[in-house]
Amino acid sequence: MSLLIKLTIVVVAFISHEHEAIAQFQPPYTSIVIPVSKHIDAAKPLYSAKILTVYEDYTQYLPLNFLIDIDAPFIWHECDLQWNHYPGSCPPNTLCNYPISCEEYQCEDVRTTYSYDNPSCRPVNKGPTLPGWGYCTCPVTVVNPVTGSCGQALLSYDHEYTVSTSDGRNVLSGLYGAYPNAACAPSSSFESFPTNVTGVMALSTSPYALPTYLNGPLKSIMALCLPSTLSVPGVLFYGNSSYYLLPQSDVDVKSFLSYTPLLKHPYSFGYFIGVNAIVIKKRSIDLLANTTTKLSTIDPYTTLRTDIYNHVVRRFSLVTKRIPPAEPIAPFGLCFNTSTKGPKVSIKVPDIDFVLEEGKKWSVSTGNSIKQVTEDVACLAFVDGGATSEPAIVIGTYQFEDNFLVFDLEKSRFGFSSSLLRKKTCCASFNFTMAT
Ligand SMILES: *[C@@H]1O[C@H](CO)[C@@H](O)[C@H](O)[C@H]1NC(C)=O
Ligand SMILES: *[C@@H]1O[C@H](CO)[C@@H](O)[C@H](O)[C@H]1NC(C)=O
Ligand SMILES: *[C@@H]1O[C@H](CO)[C@@H](O)[C@H](O)[C@H]1NC(C)=O
Ligand SMILES: *[C@@H]1O[C@H](CO)[C@@H](O)[C@H](O)[C@H]1NC(C)=O
Ligand SMILES: *[C@@H]1O[C@H](CO)[C@@H](O)[C@H](O)[C@H]1NC(C)=O
Repeated sequence: MSLLIKLTIVVVAFISHEHEAIAQFQPPYTSIVIPVSKHIDAAKPLYSAKILTVYEDYTQYLPLNFLIDIDAPFIWHECDLQWNHYPGSCPPNTLCNYPISCEEYQCEDVRTTYSYDNPSCRPVNKGPTLPGWGYCTCPVTVVNPVTGSCGQALLSYDHEYTVSTSDGRNVLSGLYGAYPNAACAPSSSFESFPTNVTGVMALSTSPYALPTYLNGPLKSIMALCLPSTLSVPGVLFYGNSSYYLLPQSDVDVKSFLSYTPLLKHPYSFGYFIGVNAIVIKKRSIDLLANTTTKLSTIDPYTTLRTDIYNHVVRRFSLVTKRIPPAEPIAPFGLCFNTSTKGPKVSIKVPDIDFVLEEGKKWSVSTGNSIKQVTEDVACLAFVDGGATSEPAIVIGTYQFEDNFLVFDLEKSRFGFSSSLLRKKTCCASFNFTMAT
């Protein structure tokens, strides 16, 4: 069976002199599709992408769950380094990778230009000599996205990553393989991660992030739809495809999207947009034009610099003054009592609109602005980032859930649907059944 699957793998040639042949080759798929799960068993809600890697004997797939990080400079996960692979040299259920030596170009490149930019981490020295070949390894600093603590990993050539192909509507029978570099970290690095999540998937603009290892048409567009539910996966696509979510099997989700430019940021491989104002029930909270706003898959809630936060909370409490308040529960500053009229009632609040370039509006509706924290308390899911927080706005994952997001790297623009619930669908509605 696994051999059969193996045979259906879509082989992609990277060799440059075959460019012409690639241009004429029409693949049967428009995209690759990866299931995205939500986790709430770590210090904060996080999301993972499931990718198949291979055993050393190349006969069986080992699935690996990677934390989705659209800001990380390179991919890293739990694995062992081995200079010499031979049958049985790799323990069961373990990925054994071949090291990238300190003498190779990639090592210097990652260490000097594409590493985590964190002044609190101690710089690492080149690795000790491993027995056998006498080569040195390539240590790189990693920052744990759950705890923010510094760690170390060793750069390596990774195994093939195998993912499903798609026509945007279903999973297709062909598989797609990519051959990334990744850094290996010991299992202790992942103790603070959600259960069974043992890696970080870099989906940033860094040349060592996943898109680099995909072929041309796929890498230009990433689409991410984070689920709000734990039981059914959301979806991550690469490829300039149409995208369909049930039950509307004939409506391209792209038709729901508005676009705003992605802004460059000198010290980050992440994604930034410009926000001009925040509007709540027709009243505008003006910001400096083009206020730099970061998109983050690691921050659980949208973080606002204190001055902006105070304006938003003041305005929001005015427009919700008919809802009984409750004592705030950290990290939130504005909460409501949802059980004053007997059993828990769900509250409905006005939209919080982020006004972007050309008057485009990203509407944050109740499902993305109010979080039920306890049985009878719900809170405005925005947090105070402090008086000097930079960037002034960081949009977090609670505001992304059930929003379809497109990162168009070719046109350098960001597409957003606002809540899919208003379109009677959600991120957990991709039909993962294989097309017949
Ligand atoms: C973790 O993975 C193991 C092995 O695949 C599985 O049995 C277990 O249910 C998973 N645990 C969680 C919390 O997902
Ligand atoms: C994606 O496809 C659309 C429609 O076919 C086309 O207009 C657009 O230019 C493509 N974008 C990229 C980045 O290839
Ligand atoms: C916002 O910033 C971007 C990048 O710096 C720039 O291209 C764009 O013109 C700016 N827009 C406005 C309205 O200032
Ligand atoms: C919510 O209101 C009800 C009824 O007034 C009260 O009994 C309950 O203690 C309140 N809960 C909180 C958390 O304020
Ligand atoms: C999901 O896709 C399969 C295969 O194309 C199809 O048979 C099935 O009806 C689809 N499910 C729904 C709910 O439309």
